Amino acid sequence: MPANIVVGTQWGDEGKGKIIDIISSRADVVVRSQGGNNAGHTVVNNGEVYKLHLIPSGILYENTLCLIGAGVVLDPKDFISELDSLETRGISTANLRIDPRAHVVMPWHIRLDGLSEKFRGGKDIGTTGRGIGPAYMDKYERCGIRMYDLVHADVLAEKIQSTGKLKNKIITEVYGGEAFDLDSVTAEYTKYGERLAKYIDDVSVLTFNADKSGKTIMFEGAQATLLDIDFGTYPYVTSSHPLSAGVCIGTGVGPRMITNIIGVAKAYTTRVGKGPFPTELDDEIGEEIRNKGGEFGTTTGRPRRTGWFDAVIVRHSVRVNGLDSLAINKLDTLANIGTLKICTAYRMPDGSITENFPPTLEELEGCTPIYEEFDGFTEDISQCRSFDELPENCRKYIARLEELVGCHVSMVGVGADRTQIIER
Ligand code: GDP
Ligand code: IMO
Ligand code: MG
Repeated sequence: MPANIVVGTQWGDEGKGKIIDIISSRADVVVRSQGGNNAGHTVVNNGEVYKLHLIPSGILYENTLCLIGAGVVLDPKDFISELDSLETRGISTANLRIDPRAHVVMPWHIRLDGLSEKFRGGKDIGTTGRGIGPAYMDKYERCGIRMYDLVHADVLAEKIQSTGKLKNKIITEVYGGEAFDLDSVTAEYTKYGERLAKYIDDVSVLTFNADKSGKTIMFEGAQATLLDIDFGTYPYVTSSHPLSAGVCIGTGVGPRMITNIIGVAKAYTTRVGKGPFPTELDDEIGEEIRNKGGEFGTTTGRPRRTGWFDAVIVRHSVRVNGLDSLAINKLDTLANIGTLKICTAYRMPDGSITENFPPTLEELEGCTPIYEEFDGFTEDISQCRSFDELPENCRKYIARLEELVGCHVSMVGVGADRTQIIER
């Protein structure tokens, strides 16, 4: 006690890393429970920039236990390079643990991710190309390789042979791609297993015991609500459950442990990858927000699509995550943009108005956002540290946003650094 969840409420990159880092300063344990290195979480401390993909953001605090739960898919090659880059910068990784049940992203997953995207032609999802979808496919098909297997050379060798043969068949015969030499994959991945063996531990047990002994736990969300496999913009989603409820399954703890759920949003909206985006700005304002906000993907470097704050999607997030409060980041980016807009509802093709996010793409198609306009602000707010210090137009914008989504805003981000936050 207490156990906090931090989740993304839009299409990712809301600044979860920053919020988690701030809260981690008061946490004993930080847990990642789903997704993989498709995530890119940025933490800025005094000009030092850390980009984390798989390792929980709590790693920057020396005494924080950092756990990777069963629901994560872990690419050992990328993970080791992340470990190395942190260790080179003097960050200890001794407090890291990985659940033996977590699935391993194998090289064929990455190749199949690329091949299936290519096969979809113009209807590609715009994945991060990290093999996430194919790794989760194997998990649910019950032929995946898990972290336990990776660190047991004999088990690994046998599983690489059996699964690898099938994967090679699919790669070559379905997609016309190049097969893997399974012996060299075995040699390479056995080495990764040797390196990672010391981190393996039962994360469900560790989290349960930490909670029982009164420790403060932080569950670090990755991806976001609109990328959820069921409640996102399917099929333009990721292959896991980034929702608050996904945390319990991905860690192996019961929902009664959770005491607080914080949603993170930007003061506007961004999306990287393909799929619908009702409030997208395909004009110079969108371009200005992208440049001022540095909206380029942390993982793939792709330019992020930008648009106005959409209260319909965040209202959906408040509901499906059961949010207690919201953190709104990057309000500073909206300075000098001119008149600001918030989408309050969608007008459907038949003229009716909905305040609820439509469940399917077919229903979403043809929806037009209904906007409310706000006077903008020109002040530099990056040094504000209390809500009262914010210009009146900022306070009005946040107050109306709260009203529209039905959730209290407890934090406002005014810059990328861990100190640039207003806590209410
Ligand atoms: P995450 O995936 O949700 O952790 O977010 P990312 O790290 O991928 O993207 C968020 C970006 O916004 C990063 O470059 C952060 O350093 C930056 N950032 C976070 N909060 C703020 C803020 O309040 N203001 C500004 N200007 N930048 C922020
Ligand atoms: P963080 O944790 C933004 C998007 C991809 C693509 C879709 C499917 O940094 O917020 P995948 O590789 O998961 O199969 O891609 O999901 N996506 C993200 N977009 N932030 C992320 O993570 C994302 N993780 C996946 O761009 O549209
Ligand atoms: Mg990110």
